Amino acid sequence: MKQVDVRYAFYGLIITNSIWIYVVFKDIWTFRPPVVYSVSVVPSTIPTPTTPFLVLFTSWNDSMESGNVYNNTLFMWRALGPDVTLVLFTNNTKMKEMAKSFGWEVLPLMRTNCGGIPILKEMFKTVMTTYNESKFYGYSNSDVLFNIGLKATLNMILSNKALLKRAPVLVTGRRIDSPVGLTEKIQTWKDFEKVAQRGLMSNAFALDYFITTKGFNWKEFPDLVIGRPKIDNWLIFYARRKGVSLIDASASITALHQKTEKRKKMVRECNREILIKSKNVQFRQNKVVKGNAECAHYETRHLKSGALTLMKRGLYSTLC
Ligand SMILES: *[C@@H]1O[C@H](CO)[C@@H](O)[C@H](O)[C@H]1NC(C)=O
Ligand SMILES: *[C@@H]1O[C@H](CO)[C@@H](O)[C@H](O)[C@H]1NC(C)=O
Ligand SMILES: *[C@@H]1O[C@H](CO)[C@@H](O)[C@H](O)[C@H]1NC(C)=O
Ligand SMILES: *[C@@H]1O[C@H](CO)[C@@H](O)[C@H](O)[C@H]1NC(C)=O
Repeated sequence: MKQVDVRYAFYGLIITNSIWIYVVFKDIWTFRPPVVYSVSVVPSTIPTPTTPFLVLFTSWNDSMESGNVYNNTLFMWRALGPDVTLVLFTNNTKMKEMAKSFGWEVLPLMRTNCGGIPILKEMFKTVMTTYNESKFYGYSNSDVLFNIGLKATLNMILSNKALLKRAPVLVTGRRIDSPVGLTEKIQTWKDFEKVAQRGLMSNAFALDYFITTKGFNWKEFPDLVIGRPKIDNWLIFYARRKGVSLIDASASITALHQKTEKRKKMVRECNREILIKSKNVQFRQNKVVKGNAECAHYETRHLKSGALTLMKRGLYSTLC
């Protein structure tokens, strides 16, 4: 009978232990200290924007919300200043007049999917040709309000020539969910701050706004519709795959989601069906976990001086 060399038993033990240590500590090695999210409304450095700067657009179904939500949006987006061009996509005459009275531009809703819901890509392509001189193009859900941190963040990105030269940029971030009463008016930064302070930061999977630079490749993006699950996660996944520089601006942009009780529930799984039915095999992949804000390459941070900066994320969550 051959004797087992004791050295092999020893090596075996070391290997087993190493694997065990790896399994236990894997998550600790990839751990990143949590980002401190600010809910500050007015950043200490007010940006000096270059015009033309940002085209911010949205669309809404006016029978979905009752109360003051859309009026708050019309009002507070306008408060971002004259260097932000605001666009509402609608065919509804009443909405059109109302938006115009708030200094918004209105464009007709051309291609839709899922029984009349706007296709995100289509709206991006339209604003990029209609307002072709702008630096940024951003879609946001229509019940979200932004603080001036939006402009401060984009200005900081605009000053980073090396970043902009490397690849197209996509800016997104978490939102703050705040209960808003049906008759509650949000018309000043003070109102905004009051409502933001009672809100809670949402998770990194529920993203409501996406801002890109011109070079973003929409050509290969599927006809997903706004306001339905998966559009956010799938867009983030797609952007990462296309080599876009993804920026998580949760710390510098307050995106205030007006949460009302009367909001109508809609058909939910429409985007999933579009992806499954797609002829393009890569579209059928369900990569929701890889499309969250934590997977962004960069995050925004406030320095002690109050100035904004971009930080590269070295280690990602294991989900990415
Ligand atoms: C929203 O504003 C418009 C124009 O000022 C006004 O006619 C309308 O009644 C307002 N809606 C609500 C719900 O307050
Ligand atoms: C909106 O109106 C335009 C004409 O201005 C029309 O071509 C388009 O089909 C309409 N869209 C919807 C969704 O009805
Ligand atoms: C608009 O909302 C109403 C009420 O929820 C719904 O019945 C209708 O189908 C919606 N229209 C579109 C185009 O989504
Ligand atoms: C924007 O469009 C106008 C008219 O087609 C054109 O003259 C101009 O060069 C375009 N600008 C950019 C930045 O593409």
